[in-house]
Amino acid sequence: MTTRKLLLLPGDGIGPEAMAEVEKLISLMNEVAGSGFETETGLVGGAAYDVHGAAISDADMELAKTADAILFGAVGGPKWDKNSYETRPESGLLRLRKDLDLFANLRPAICYPALAEASSLKRELVDGLDILILRELTGGVYFGLPKEITELGNGQKRGVDTQVYQTYEIERIARAAFELARTRRGKVTSMEKRNVMVTGVLWNEVVTAVHADYPDVELEHMLADAGGMQLVRAPKQFDVIVTDNLFGDMLSDIAAMLTGSLGMLPSASLGPADETTGRRNAMYEPVHGSAPDISGKGIANPIAMIASFAMALRYSFNMIEEADKLKASIAEVLQAGIRTGDIMSEGARQVGTVEMGDAIAESFRAKL
Ligand code: NAI
Ligand code: MG
Repeated sequence: MTTRKLLLLPGDGIGPEAMAEVEKLISLMNEVAGSGFETETGLVGGAAYDVHGAAISDADMELAKTADAILFGAVGGPKWDKNSYETRPESGLLRLRKDLDLFANLRPAICYPALAEASSLKRELVDGLDILILRELTGGVYFGLPKEITELGNGQKRGVDTQVYQTYEIERIARAAFELARTRRGKVTSMEKRNVMVTGVLWNEVVTAVHADYPDVELEHMLADAGGMQLVRAPKQFDVIVTDNLFGDMLSDIAAMLTGSLGMLPSASLGPADETTGRRNAMYEPVHGSAPDISGKGIANPIAMIASFAMALRYSFNMIEEADKLKASIAEVLQAGIRTGDIMSEGARQVGTVEMGDAIAESFRAKL
């Protein structure tokens, strides 16, 4: 039997509450479908700091490197706000991203029909929306050197950030985009600013060159500012959008708000594929944080975490059918009018974290 190794890092605040609902689904898949998941649970964030004095231990980092996929909850909270820069809860997340070379950040923007009213756009523009923003996560202006503020001696200061991209960094994110598009609707839109940035010129050139290996996928180039406009004008024209770290940060947040609450948004971060085995490091996490304002109350929306698990099924385990079924279960439960507080609307039935998890599990069980 195949074994599938999952490392669970629930973290802080509502992280563990949401993770518990995913654990139910994992047990269900093992029992009903013999999926062979083996889970280990580690500490990250404040939870790890309290035990190890660091936001993730070396031992848990080792587990992270050998797991087939990592499910990450959320980190942080007022208890650790005074921690030093090196020991703040977020440093655990940053270490995972860096040490596992998680360069490809996938942020789907999916609009469930039942929630189309919650969007800031008109229903017909977002109803059924399903696009994927692929953001380069380990390069670009957030990391480029020099990065400094210098005194000019005349009362002026000078701040410098540097946007740097090398061919290999653009190549691997482009490859990821084309491969993802193949499993979807077969279209990639690459966004940069080649009109004013030389990194944009290089980005455009490399993406076009990589495209030669994917003739079955349609490639379109768009300037990132025009892309932002198109995202709110007619978002359904896109399938996969691939872009750099900075533009991806902004465009993915814009796309997120087309679809409603923070409690609904999953993400994945992937490392490079091993040349011989094809295995890649991968971490799946909700976009939201630890939500200290609602943690411990049993009211957090577990859907972002559950949808992150659905992404793990799809991208780490190639369990496409199961991933689709889980997505369908989420849609079904929403359609039935079952809502957590953050997505509550008139006439719907408000439930807590556990009841939402149970309703999705019940629907999923019937499909397995
Ligand atoms: P947040 O995402 O934790 O919360 C923002 C607002 O959205 C809050 O009102 C919260 O109650 C609500 N919310 C978030 N997730 C929800 C869910 N699943 N269901 C219902 N409501 C939900 O961001 P905030 O408040 O800025 O940060 C809180 C802590 O989380 C901080 O310590 C921050 O550093 C950390 N954080 C961690 C992240 C991570 O682990 N990846 C990401 C963002 C923030
Ligand atoms: Mg952001």
